[in-house]
Amino acid sequence: MISPSSSPDSTVKDPGHPLVELSHVEKHFGSLHVLKDINLSVNKGEVLVVVGPSGSGKSTMCRTVNRLEGIDSGVIRIDGKELPQEGKELAMLRAEVGMVFQSFNLFANKTILENVTLAPMRVRHMSKADAEDLAMDMLSRVGVDSQASKMPSQLSGGQQQRVAIARALAMKPKVMLFDEPTSALDPEMVNEVLDVMVGLAKEGMTMICVTHEMGFARKAADRIVFMADGRILESGTPEEFFDHAQTKRAKDFLSKILTR
Ligand SMILES: Nc1ncnc2c1ncn2[C@@H]1O[C@H](COP(=O)(O)OP(=O)(O)OP(=O)(O)O)[C@@H](O)[C@H]1O
Ligand SMILES: [Mg+2]
Repeated sequence: MISPSSSPDSTVKDPGHPLVELSHVEKHFGSLHVLKDINLSVNKGEVLVVVGPSGSGKSTMCRTVNRLEGIDSGVIRIDGKELPQEGKELAMLRAEVGMVFQSFNLFANKTILENVTLAPMRVRHMSKADAEDLAMDMLSRVGVDSQASKMPSQLSGGQQQRVAIARALAMKPKVMLFDEPTSALDPEMVNEVLDVMVGLAKEGMTMICVTHEMGFARKAADRIVFMADGRILESGTPEEFFDHAQTKRAKDFLSKILTR
């Protein structure tokens, strides 16, 4: 397992088609070296789960994939195209990457339906009627279509997070990034969001998920990447990672997280 970037990986779904590629990515925040020689390739249809201790760089790595954070050096490609620094091209590439964060980031002053139609109308130039049809499809896919006319504050956390997923899906992204999408939820709402994610994985969506939900990781991941101190220390199947972790850091991490 280890050496995430070298040997061909037997778990890949479509090894000929990397959708997201990070190559020798380096990133500092001032004097803090947060991403150290990150090499990662996520294939079409692959579900990658990223785990690791707090501060290891998981969120930063996710955010570099759609350039919410710039990088110091290295290359990031989405579907073979290098991420541009700025401008219209960046906006187009960004639209291909859906992102769902830990905290609900719906627009508080817009209805659920408006939250989902906004980007398809603005970025994809869809008509309002088409965007609304699409939005209702996406909302029903995540089971919250009956809430379409409500405001975000009228929904539970789990429902809001499902709307955030629907909103991302409405842009027909090539890849979905999830950064701890369930960690701000009350425990009884975690599963309804994880179930939507498992469904997406089964449908073949390419996904990068940062999560502490180890049940989900075992069930849905094709591959687990373990980060510590800004580096990828291990990369392997769930079975390899959970049952045969190689590094002391990963073993320590697992012993803490699995006994909680
Ligand atoms: N905008 C920023 N400016 C300065 N330092 C930052 C910034 N964002 C993150 N950091 C630092 O970079 C390091 C990596 O942070 P990051 O949020 O990527 O970690 P993480 O693995 O996602 O952690 P957690 O599990 O707590 O979410 C941390 O030391 C963090 O304090
Ligand atoms: Mg984080």
